[in-house]
Amino acid sequence: MRHVSALFLASLAAIASASTTCSADSKCPESAPCCYSGVCGVGSSCLGSCDPLMSYSLDSCTPEAICKNQTYSFSNLDDSVAWDQYLGNASQYEWSWSGYPKVENSSLMLTMPNQTTGSLMTLNHYIWYGKVSAKIKSSRGGGVITGFILMSDVKDEIDFEFVGYNLSSVQTDFYFQGVENYTNEVNAAVSTGNTYDTWHTYTIDWSPERLEWLVDGTVMRTLTKNSTYNATSGIYMYPQTPSRLQMSLWPSGLSTESTGTIEWGGGLVNWTSADMEKYGYYYALFKDITVECYNPPEGTTIKGDVSYVYTSDTGLSDQILVSGNSTVLYNLEDTGLNMTAGKQETASSSSSGSSESSGSSTSTSFSAGTTTSGAASSSYSDRVMQGSVLAAVGAAFFFSLF
Ligand SMILES: *[C@@H]1O[C@H](CO)[C@@H](O)[C@H](O)[C@H]1NC(C)=O
Ligand SMILES: *[C@@H]1O[C@H](CO)[C@@H](O)[C@H](O)[C@H]1NC(C)=O
Ligand SMILES: *[C@@H]1O[C@H](CO)[C@@H](O)[C@H](O)[C@H]1NC(C)=O
Ligand SMILES: *[C@@H]1O[C@H](CO)[C@@H](O)[C@H](O)[C@H]1NC(C)=O
Ligand SMILES: *[C@@H]1O[C@H](CO)[C@@H](O)[C@H](O)[C@H]1NC(C)=O
Ligand SMILES: *[C@@H]1O[C@H](CO)[C@@H](O)[C@H](O)[C@H]1NC(C)=O
Ligand SMILES: *[C@@H]1O[C@H](CO)[C@@H](O)[C@H](O)[C@H]1NC(C)=O
Ligand SMILES: *[C@@H]1O[C@H](CO)[C@@H](O)[C@H](O)[C@H]1NC(C)=O
Ligand SMILES: *[C@@H]1O[C@H](CO)[C@@H](O)[C@H](O)[C@H]1NC(C)=O
Ligand SMILES: *[C@@H]1O[C@H](CO)[C@@H](O)[C@H](O)[C@H]1NC(C)=O
Ligand SMILES: *[C@@H]1O[C@H](CO)[C@@H](O)[C@H](O)[C@H]1NC(C)=O
Repeated sequence: MRHVSALFLASLAAIASASTTCSADSKCPESAPCCYSGVCGVGSSCLGSCDPLMSYSLDSCTPEAICKNQTYSFSNLDDSVAWDQYLGNASQYEWSWSGYPKVENSSLMLTMPNQTTGSLMTLNHYIWYGKVSAKIKSSRGGGVITGFILMSDVKDEIDFEFVGYNLSSVQTDFYFQGVENYTNEVNAAVSTGNTYDTWHTYTIDWSPERLEWLVDGTVMRTLTKNSTYNATSGIYMYPQTPSRLQMSLWPSGLSTESTGTIEWGGGLVNWTSADMEKYGYYYALFKDITVECYNPPEGTTIKGDVSYVYTSDTGLSDQILVSGNSTVLYNLEDTGLNMTAGKQETASSSSSGSSESSGSSTSTSFSAGTTTSGAASSSYSDRVMQGSVLAAVGAAFFFSLF
């Protein structure tokens, strides 16, 4: 998949836990039961993006925080937490970040400093059908990708992706359980200005029967569930599982990427471009983010109002249960198998500098990645300093997996 989670998250996860890999055919061991971007682990690996179908068991990943109607504006990053510090309480922290986010002019600014893999901001609440909108100014330049997508833990995916070499349109795309099919990509042109200089509103309107991509309120593309029916498997290859909003800025144009990905993104990133020289980073801006939750599909088993849980390994919509079970781990060594096995940590605030996880191998070794242990407390410029040196390490780990 030409996608941030395939490169960026995997590079981080690969460092987090030794080298036990996972797939549908080779699930994780009980000792590190959570499959995160193809690697087994505990703690952070069991939270968002933990794939239940590749993990030790369906309940290895933590339950997924239920959808919340909300409008988000960014005057600071107090509602967000470094993703390797997050324990699963979406009421405490609405967002998890990695990389180099900051706030500018009341907008969320995702940046990609020199030689880094950029930034990712993920909503901790899942959306199981709903309408999600944001005003966005994309980044620009070949090999520089701005993303506004919904992604489920079994890799159903709904995308707006801005490829930085073409500012007159945005790409719309969808995936079912991560099955690659690039012919699903369709461009949607913006009617005024371009995607970089002009604010436009991008909306994903996702219901059980149909999916629409809108720009400035105009429907640019519609996908019906019916149209995705696969008569061979008897399955609708339609995005249908609880998904999180991910906003990202990442490089498709790295020499380590596949030729197809590099071409798709418009060539290699130019690290001495005008934007790099002027600001020291590429950036994209996001504001006025709204989430409107739709009701679960008819026939869904509802046993609470806290979380979504997978009850079978089909990974299909009719196997999702709405439960009352908690989404919160006691600490970063715990897993979905027993979320309260270890000592209870009190989550640190995103600015306090207390290090809830300083004994945790997960977050300690994680400091070699783009984000750092204690990154929650370090300044933007500290993170950039550390990241620019170390991002390459992450990439090297990732690519050694394949
Ligand atoms: C989650 O955080 C909120 C706000 O900080 C707190 O009131 C609540 O008790 C926490 N929930 C759990 C399950 O820890
Ligand atoms: C923030 O606002 C100032 C003043 O209007 C403007 O000069 C600057 O370019 C804005 N920053 C961004 C990233 O758009
Ligand atoms: C940008 O995308 C539009 C819409 O698909 C297309 O017509 C145009 O040729 C593209 N421009 C470039 C430079 O590829
Ligand atoms: C890709 O999706 C299209 C419909 O968008 C479908 O016609 C085609 O068969 C799919 N190809 C593969 C290889 O799955
Ligand atoms: C979609 O499927 C339903 C149920 O099979 C059917 O009633 C309906 O006519 C289909 N719609 C389209 C547009 O094919
Ligand atoms: C339909 O499902 C079959 C069996 O799972 C699979 O081999 C095939 O690639 C699917 N077709 C499409 C178009 O994805
Ligand atoms: C990178 O951008 C700079 C500034 O626009 C330009 O001079 C240089 O030729 C570009 N490099 C490449 C390889 O395109
Ligand atoms: C980015 O890093 C490369 C390699 O260290 C360097 O050649 C280039 O000048 C840097 N770009 C900027 C804008 O500092
Ligand atoms: C969200 O708001 C809609 C109406 O705008 C309402 O129908 C729905 O029940 C709400 N969902 C939640 C989870 O609050
Ligand atoms: C909820 O948690 C209880 C106690 O841990 C567990 O037995 C049960 O299977 C969980 N329910 C679901 C739907 O995961
Ligand atoms: C979880 O671990 C704690 C501490 O070892 C233990 O007391 C508790 O019974 C365990 N819970 C489950 C559901 O296994």
